[in-house]
Amino acid sequence: MTPYEYTHPLASTSVEPLAAGQKYLPHASGKRAALIRQPMLTVIDDHVSSYPSPSNLTYMWGFGSLAGICLGIQIASGIFLAMHYTPHVDLAFASVEHIMRDVQGGWFLRYLHANGAGFFFIVVYLHVLRGLYYGSYSQPRELVWVLGSVILLIMILTAFIGYVLPWGQMSLWGATVITSLASVIPVVGNDVVTWLWGGFSVDNATLNRFFSLHYLLPFVLAGLSILHIAALHQYGSNNPLGTHSGTDKVPLYPHFYVKDLVAWVVFFIVLSMFIHYMPNVLGHADNYIPANPLSTPAHIVPEFYVLPFYAVLRSIPDKLLGVVAMMGVFVCLGAMPWLQTARIRSLAFRPLAAAFYWTMVATAFLLGWIGAMPVETPYLEIGQLLTAYFFAYFLVITPFLGWFEDALLREEA
Ligand code: HEM
Repeated sequence: MTPYEYTHPLASTSVEPLAAGQKYLPHASGKRAALIRQPMLTVIDDHVSSYPSPSNLTYMWGFGSLAGICLGIQIASGIFLAMHYTPHVDLAFASVEHIMRDVQGGWFLRYLHANGAGFFFIVVYLHVLRGLYYGSYSQPRELVWVLGSVILLIMILTAFIGYVLPWGQMSLWGATVITSLASVIPVVGNDVVTWLWGGFSVDNATLNRFFSLHYLLPFVLAGLSILHIAALHQYGSNNPLGTHSGTDKVPLYPHFYVKDLVAWVVFFIVLSMFIHYMPNVLGHADNYIPANPLSTPAHIVPEFYVLPFYAVLRSIPDKLLGVVAMMGVFVCLGAMPWLQTARIRSLAFRPLAAAFYWTMVATAFLLGWIGAMPVETPYLEIGQLLTAYFFAYFLVITPFLGWFEDALLREEA
């Protein structure tokens, strides 16, 4: 075997034709293991078992499978929660308390779903940061990246409408603030908001449609994730060196199952600690107050995983431009394959670019902190500076630094 190819252990197992008069293959035949190689099932074998993976992938490549597990947990726990939840403004809050107190294991389902959402975002953000660091978005994986950016946008939408369902104070007022953003659309803005609400305020029609969509969108995410992996497997994975990956490959199973398992165990231990010892630490206390359209909370704060986006929105004094800037974050992220001009892919070999990268990561964290603060001095000004750096990283530093480094390399040569 050359280092350029590997043979799957089952590859040589072929099913012999039946002998004359013979109806079935003998049961004891070892060849029954070849079921996975039947035409209808080879897709599973090709993509989740034999898939040729670069042998030098680190633990950083485990976040993709972990994100898939998170999506599975959210769908499974959500289906069971929906069996006991009632999407009506008079009953929603009480039905969640019913789940917490009366339903067998209901508290676990709810805390698993609520904390699982936060953990899902942490995993996906790490997955994205890995991609940015190692240049996994660069050609030929542009489609993988663009699909990922769309997935992130739909994830945020799904989480946002899910947060409305318990119908607490933050649910109602968070929904009111965010849906009202559509009013910035020129000419038809106010009509769009009324259409989104299904009335003249966030009310029963809104809650009902949010429940319906919150049940639907995770399946859209599952479909997009399959496309995301299909697009990846068309060319194969990147690797920590950022070099051509075809040189040394091993099958996904068992090598990366064993490696990913380590991350899955750590993930479940940490998630369990949150569920059992501090289940409300990631949430906001005000959401334990039933929604009251007559009383606005002092501070309307979204969930921690959208705080940086919220900070970008609020750092721009004009409402329309604020919404444009917030959407601009996704556009910049999705455009990364075309904004990056350097020929060296991995930041492990670009110390200056790595310094700017880590500054951008710190900026994102600080934006998260600003998003939780009131819009007043000095938070407003700090938020504006951070927003400016964040966009400069994508739109100015990344293209120009790559171009500059390549010019230096050309001179060396
Ligand atoms: C539901 C969310 C997501 C799921 C289930 C998911 C799943 C996966 C899986 C299983 C892999 C292969 C293993 C790995 O390289 O980690 C992968 C690779 C990748 N994903 Fe995602 N992903 C998600 C979101 C995203 C997002 C938001 C982005 C970026 C905007 C993204 C960008 C990428 C890239 C660039 C790769 C290729 C990495 C490489 O080959 O180095 N993914 N994803």
